[in-house]
Amino acid sequence: MQRHKGRRVLITGAGNGIGAATARFFAGEGARLYLIDSDAEALAAGLAGLPGGTEALSRAASVTDEVAMAAAADEMAAAFGGIDAVVNSAGVVVVEPALEARTDTFRKVLDVNLVGTWIVCQAAARHMARAGSGSIVNISSVYGFQGAPNRTAYCASKGGVVNLTNSLAVEWGPLGIRVNSVAPTGTRTPMVQDLIDRGIYDVDAVSRRTPLRRIAEPEEIAAACGFLVSDEARMTTGHHLGVDGGWLANGFLTAPSAAV
Ligand SMILES: NC(=O)c1ccc[n+]([C@@H]2O[C@H](COP(=O)([O-])OP(=O)(O)OC[C@H]3O[C@@H](n4cnc5c(N)ncnc54)[C@H](O)[C@@H]3O)[C@@H](O)[C@H]2O)c1
Repeated sequence: MQRHKGRRVLITGAGNGIGAATARFFAGEGARLYLIDSDAEALAAGLAGLPGGTEALSRAASVTDEVAMAAAADEMAAAFGGIDAVVNSAGVVVVEPALEARTDTFRKVLDVNLVGTWIVCQAAARHMARAGSGSIVNISSVYGFQGAPNRTAYCASKGGVVNLTNSLAVEWGPLGIRVNSVAPTGTRTPMVQDLIDRGIYDVDAVSRRTPLRRIAEPEEIAAACGFLVSDEARMTTGHHLGVDGGWLANGFLTAPSAAV
């Protein structure tokens, strides 16, 4: 399918996990890409994973660097003639008890996940506003809607991303810019693999509570981003698309079996 042929898409956190899968997804549909990641090695691997012939520029920089993000948006607009879409996937997680958490750690999580998302939204939207069109997808999380133990900063940051998305959708709708989020459940990426390796993420327990009985694959999150960016979603803004196997719908401790 070439639904995104020629579309100019900026993706952050593109070196790993959901961002890298999203880059592969859009490249497979003919998009022109601008990839950003703070980890230069990961970024190079993300670029190397794209299908041959993909038109892609990149920048190794942090989304928290306002000057670098403005320069990236300007460079992309100059090279491609504009920016059609953004997927904000750069993010970090810290797992620690709230009574012991350090304020500078809390600030760092907020800085990357929320302030960084805001910085990239604004840098890209300045170009989109001139064109009178654009689509932004912020990767939030089921934890943008729920609390969770030992993830205070993460949950606060993702709740912030949800309401940042709402606010920008309202303010920028009249400018032709749509702003939505995708809210994944646990997804098989290096971020989650690291938690699994440290014994603080239990795939079986999460799967048992999930009506579809498993965690997500990064390609499934990428496909949701593809839909929200596409023309098929042209009337959708300020929406949060759960890709969570029914996690948020389930108020029960485990997912009831179909037989009960
Ligand atoms: N994996 C999950 O279970 C899950 C669930 C819900 C939401 N999310 C969110 O999805 C997004 C992607 O997560 P993932 O699982 O792919 O993580 P990941 O760690 O596998 O990949 C994240 C990428 O972001 C980059 N990054 C981190 N800080 C950055 C910064 N300051 N500037 C630029 N790049 C930076 C990292 O280098 C990495 O390449 C995150 O926002 C995360 O919170 C993930």
